[in-house]
Amino acid sequence: MAEKSAHTIVVRAIRLDFDPAEAGVWHNGSALYSHMFNSLSAFLPRGEAFFVRAVHATADIGLAGTAFGAELDAFSRQEMAHGRQHARCNQAITVGRPIMTQFDRYLARAFDLVYRLSSKRMRLAYTMAVEHLTSTLARVLLSRPERLTQSKSDFALLWLWHGLEELEHKSTACIRYRQIGGGYIGRASAMLVMGLPFLFEWSFLVVGLLAYDKMLWRRHVFKDALAFWISPSLWKGLGEVIQYFSFGFDPDARDDSEMVAVWRRYPALLERLERAQPTAVAKRAHLKHAA
Ligand SMILES: [Fe+2]
Ligand SMILES: [Fe+2]
Repeated sequence: MAEKSAHTIVVRAIRLDFDPAEAGVWHNGSALYSHMFNSLSAFLPRGEAFFVRAVHATADIGLAGTAFGAELDAFSRQEMAHGRQHARCNQAITVGRPIMTQFDRYLARAFDLVYRLSSKRMRLAYTMAVEHLTSTLARVLLSRPERLTQSKSDFALLWLWHGLEELEHKSTACIRYRQIGGGYIGRASAMLVMGLPFLFEWSFLVVGLLAYDKMLWRRHVFKDALAFWISPSLWKGLGEVIQYFSFGFDPDARDDSEMVAVWRRYPALLERLERAQPTAVAKRAHLKHAA
């Protein structure tokens, strides 16, 4: 089969099993790192559903007769699969940690409110902003994957699989946002509206999960927190997030094709693959214009 380009979106059906007993330690025994990822996972079933809905809601705007509908469909199918697997992962995390259920109820109301108060274009701006955050995180994780690959848990494999697919569809929401007339102010303000509350909510949940595990005041948690804050990957990732605010921002300007090709062949992922359906993506050069 011909080598797929980084722009090819592959919808993968994969089998993962999440053991509740591993939920607080799956990241090489680190309670802090395990719960930093778990806290992020808590957002994803509601978040992915929001993005898919936002993209579908624009189906009536200038899509007829274009090839881009196939890419939007593949984007949606990847995101729905992520939402489903993260919901299963969250069920395992919830065992003994009812804060996950309360947090999910809060998120359901928050995403619903944002959806109802926003225009179609603004919902896509939120989607574009978060897609930049997820693809940046994916690049950070997949470029320094040692700690995730050392963990043999499916909690770790979930993030490697999700990261790969975030890179495959990193520019889909951006292209669609620009197709429907989205501009700089909308997308920049969307990043602030989504990103700033997220930082507080995510930190709150990390602390809550550690507290449920009675791990909050452990010395190794503080050591891991210090390692996180001085990690070059964190600051590199933050630099990439800030680049979103440049006028000429283009997710495709960063070439991730080599990284995508490597992770498409990752043996642990291939072993769990039930089905993989590539979606050929139309040439996009004519769709690009900066905003
Ligand atoms: Fe996703
Ligand atoms: Fe995504």
